[in-house]
Amino acid sequence: MYSSFKSIGAYIPSKKLTNKDLEKMVDTTDEWIKQRTGIDERPIAEDNQSTSDLAYEAAKIAISRSGLEKEDIDAVICATITPDFLCMPSTACVVADKLGISHITAFDISAACSGFVYALNIAKAFIESGMKKNVLIIGAEKMSSIVDYRDRTTCILFGDGAGAAVIGVSDKKEESILDIHTSSDGSYRDFLITPGGGSKNPCTQETIDNGLQYLKMKGNETFKIAVNTLTKDVKNILEKNSLSSEDIDFFIPHQANLRIIDSVAKKLDFPMEKVVLTVEKYGNTSAASIPMAINNWYESGKLKSGNLMLLDTFGGGLTWGSALVYFSQK
Ligand code: UT7
Repeated sequence: MYSSFKSIGAYIPSKKLTNKDLEKMVDTTDEWIKQRTGIDERPIAEDNQSTSDLAYEAAKIAISRSGLEKEDIDAVICATITPDFLCMPSTACVVADKLGISHITAFDISAACSGFVYALNIAKAFIESGMKKNVLIIGAEKMSSIVDYRDRTTCILFGDGAGAAVIGVSDKKEESILDIHTSSDGSYRDFLITPGGGSKNPCTQETIDNGLQYLKMKGNETFKIAVNTLTKDVKNILEKNSLSSEDIDFFIPHQANLRIIDSVAKKLDFPMEKVVLTVEKYGNTSAASIPMAINNWYESGKLKSGNLMLLDTFGGGLTWGSALVYFSQK
């Protein structure tokens, strides 16, 4: 018995934050942002939309495209670093309730930008062990709720959105999630961090005055580790499965920075027509980035059932991972 990627859905907020808008907010230029990141604009959620609202919209589409009824879902996993509530309840519980599903397993995972690949790995394990039959996985973020719009080194990067997928059962290897590798190194935890509001620095007037509730990033250091780690990770998973870049239909990397994607694709010999790019329009949407990219390729008619996708991600923790997945939406 195999686990299988049965459907994709996404929600992209209609409000956009453009480079020109950012020029009016911080000391930056459209030219600098485009050159250094490849980003033009980022979707931004409305003030009254929380992460579960974005996740719910994406989840509805993924369930309807899977051909299943919501009652067939027996677990909901939401990957997010911008949950509706800091500690509880989980965003997955809120989304399940909004979908009208109860009495099922529902929980969040925190693996930053790698969250969707981590969630996929958990769903694969649930299904292949026989514990669950249809797992709804979601990557959803309202990054605008933790971005400091006075910090030009981070506010130019991030956007809001959600992507969701239904992972089910198949008896065919060519419809399966072939392999997933996930990893981490917590010694780099201060490279991407929201220092305030947790048990280490509980929320006080002082933490708020010092902006510790906002995301901080050592961008340049993270950039270098990202390129090396992503390249090594992809080489390993391809080698382990006796595959080469030629066997892959679409390479779908985490959309953090066009320069990172370009550099990794070149090192791995992926022609750019096989590389899925959404960073220009969506920016970096953390855990939502990969499922939003898959959905974009699906809705533009490029991604077809039977295509072999290579997912590759890197983010705070540090965490990273890669996955070889047949797209099996019928
Ligand atoms: O999703 C999780 C993983 N995240 C990543 O992988 C993100 C990785 N990092 C990056 O994408 C890039 O490092 C950035 C886009 C954040 C920055 O690009 P960079 O080429 O690494 O620039 P840098 O940090 O080395 O800064 C170069 C210069 C600095 O000025 P000086 O010191 O050379 O005078 C910065 O102050 O660019 C300056 N700078 C800016 N200038 C205009 C930094 N941000 C901006 C800005 N506009 N927005």
